[in-house]
Amino acid sequence: MPEDAGAASITSTTEAYYDSSEADSFYATIWGGEDIHIGIYEHPDEEVARASTRMVETMALRLGHLKKAHRVLDVGAGYGGAGRALATRFGCRVDCLNLSEVQNERNRLLTKAAGLEDRVRVVHANFESIPGPEEAYDAVWSQDAILHSGARERVLSEVSRVLKPGGHFVFTDPMQTDDCPPDVLQPVLDRIHLDSLASPSFYRKNLAGLGFDEIEYGEMVSQLRTHYDRVRQELGARQSEMVERCGIDYVTRMLEGLGHWVNAADRGHLTWGILHFRKRG
Ligand SMILES: C[S@@+](CC[C@H](N)C(=O)[O-])C[C@H]1O[C@@H](n2cnc3c(N)ncnc32)[C@H](O)[C@@H]1O
Repeated sequence: MPEDAGAASITSTTEAYYDSSEADSFYATIWGGEDIHIGIYEHPDEEVARASTRMVETMALRLGHLKKAHRVLDVGAGYGGAGRALATRFGCRVDCLNLSEVQNERNRLLTKAAGLEDRVRVVHANFESIPGPEEAYDAVWSQDAILHSGARERVLSEVSRVLKPGGHFVFTDPMQTDDCPPDVLQPVLDRIHLDSLASPSFYRKNLAGLGFDEIEYGEMVSQLRTHYDRVRQELGARQSEMVERCGIDYVTRMLEGLGHWVNAADRGHLTWGILHFRKRG
C-alpha cells in the first residue's frame, strides 16, 4: 500500500474505533468522561479519573507562562478535559482538535456546561492536516494521541507549522524504548489497532530536524505500568456492568490487551513520560 493510503487507512480505522459505542462507553465509564490518558498515581488503587486529572495538572506546570491572550492547540483532544483545565487555569483560549465526532460532541456539552464556550473551541479534524494558518498558537499540547498516526513525521511538521517561534510543544505518547527488539510488540499494537509506536529517539531526531530544542523528557514508565494494570483491575471488578455496556467481545479483548501492555512494560519494551520541546525563535 502507498504510504499515504496506509496512513489514511489507519486514520479511518482509528476514527471508527473511537466513534464506536463500545469504545465510547468504555472510556467514558472507566475514566469518568473528562480524560482518556495515562494518569499519575499516588497509590496503585487510586481512581483512574483522579490520577488522570493529576497528570493534566503536572503537565500544565510546563506551561506556567501562559496568559489570557495566549492560544493553545490540543491535538487528539478526546473529551476535552485538558482543554477545559488549561482554559480555567490560565484563561487562555484552547482549540481541541480531534478526529472522533462522538468524543467532540461530549466535549461540546461538557464545555458548555462548564461555561467555557468562549475559551474552548472544538475542531473536528485530522492532526496530520491541521486546519488554520501557520504560527497561530503559543503552545501545542497532546496526550497519548500521536501513537494513532501512521504518518507521525507529518503530525510533527504540522505542529511545527502552526506553532509560533519560541512556542512550546508539550506532549505524552506511549512509546517503544529505543532498544526494543523488533516484532515483540504486536499484541500491544493490536489492542487499539495501532500500526507501530514511536520512540524517544524518533521524536528527538524529527523535532531537532524541525528546529526544536529539547527542554526535557520526564520519563515515568512506572506510571504507564500502574495505569494499565489499574484500568485492567477496574474493568475486571466491573465486568458484568461493562459487558452490558460494551459487549463481551470488547471487554474480553480489552482485558487481554491491557495485560499485554503491562507485560511489555515489565519487559522494558515501553516508555512514557512528558516530552517538552521548544520551537527556536
Ligand atoms: C487515548 S485518546 C487521548 C485523548 C485526550 N488526549 C486525553 O488525554 O484525554 C487518543 C485520542 O486521539 C484522537 N486521535 C487519534 N487519531 C487522530 C487523528 N488522526 N487526528 C486527530 N485526533 C486523533 C482520538 O480521537 C482520541 O481522542
